[in-house]
Amino acid sequence: VFAHVAQAPEDSILGVTVAYNKDPSPIKLNLGVGAYRTEEGKPVVLNVVRKAEQLLVNDRSRVKEYLPIVGLADFNKLSAKLIFGADSPAIQENRVTTVQCLSGTGSLRVGAEFLGRHYHERTIYIPQPTWGNHPKIFNLGGLSVKYYRYYDPATRGLHFQGLLEDLGSAPTGAIVLLHACAHNPTGVDPTLEQWAQIRQLMRSKGLLPFFDSAYQGFASGSLDADAQSVRMFVADGGECLVAQSYAKNMGLYGERVGALSIVCKNADVASRVESQLKLVIRPMFSNPPIHGASIVATILKDMNMYDEWTVELKAMADRIISMRHKLFEALRAKDTPGDWSHIIKQIGMFTFTGLNSEQVAFMTKEYHIYMTSDGRISMAGLSSKTVPHLADAIHAAVTR
Ligand code: LMR
Repeated sequence: VFAHVAQAPEDSILGVTVAYNKDPSPIKLNLGVGAYRTEEGKPVVLNVVRKAEQLLVNDRSRVKEYLPIVGLADFNKLSAKLIFGADSPAIQENRVTTVQCLSGTGSLRVGAEFLGRHYHERTIYIPQPTWGNHPKIFNLGGLSVKYYRYYDPATRGLHFQGLLEDLGSAPTGAIVLLHACAHNPTGVDPTLEQWAQIRQLMRSKGLLPFFDSAYQGFASGSLDADAQSVRMFVADGGECLVAQSYAKNMGLYGERVGALSIVCKNADVASRVESQLKLVIRPMFSNPPIHGASIVATILKDMNMYDEWTVELKAMADRIISMRHKLFEALRAKDTPGDWSHIIKQIGMFTFTGLNSEQVAFMTKEYHIYMTSDGRISMAGLSSKTVPHLADAIHAAVTR
């Protein structure tokens, strides 16, 4: 009965890891998926996460009962505080509802489904380009997806004029997906002044912001700095949605820990919105898993562990930034044709190199370097030892 089922293509990001795993070459390098690696090229579990897990294991009073549909209460409260700030008026006024979801993807999906059911405008504008999963998530949530200009290949920077024009001509009330910081895949973010202009335009047109916050603390090394865009929108008293992921900033990739917050006009609305989110979640995954959220809550509520986390987080962010400088210097030393300054200007996990799909294919075939075909490389997968190999490959690809 399934004989007619066609072979589906691999995912454009996770499929890179599948191809990498099949390559027997000892020099192979995976710069596809955005996952942090140490200088030795190994995945890392933060010390503070190990410590929290130890505490959880030693606590014999802990059981494996189901969580409520909305997840772990402490985790939700602390996650809202982390993204909106400890002194956020929206939290104090009880007009934020936060539900625990399955990392960033699950949070976006629950948000999309809620909007599809309860929001009057079903069009969402997403940046061009954006994370490959975004359009699929929103389509499945019942929204229709349109793009707004974001990246300008000519300057390898923000297409600010195009962004303002496209959002300016969006229908009143349309939803707009914004990357809170460290835009994936481009590594290009608006400046604070540009954010202020975007906010003004969106509020004047009644556009609804939906933030994807997957890299808080990972872009600049500061949790507060990386939340500024979100806080700017919340400060004006208007509504917004925020999807948070702890995959990168706590290294909890496979634990699937995230949260969806919806900032409402008042506490009464927030409580009704939460009741409807429960109706979205229950038939989707019933209730979220307990382990990862308990790790996060343990760390966020203990001042010492929180501080330890910020130090480890900053070290990861700094290592990525130092890889940017090393790669830039290596290309300069080789006199590789082109202006590579975007490598040090872009922020977050990724560099959007400007290499085309043919050049990427060449680098994979000849140098066993794996990356997405749009030329995005995960700087977090690079180390001092592998920078020269990557620089050789880029040089060969652009001088071919
Ligand atoms: C990425 O863009 O590489 C990460 O967000 C991982 C993923 O799930 O795609």
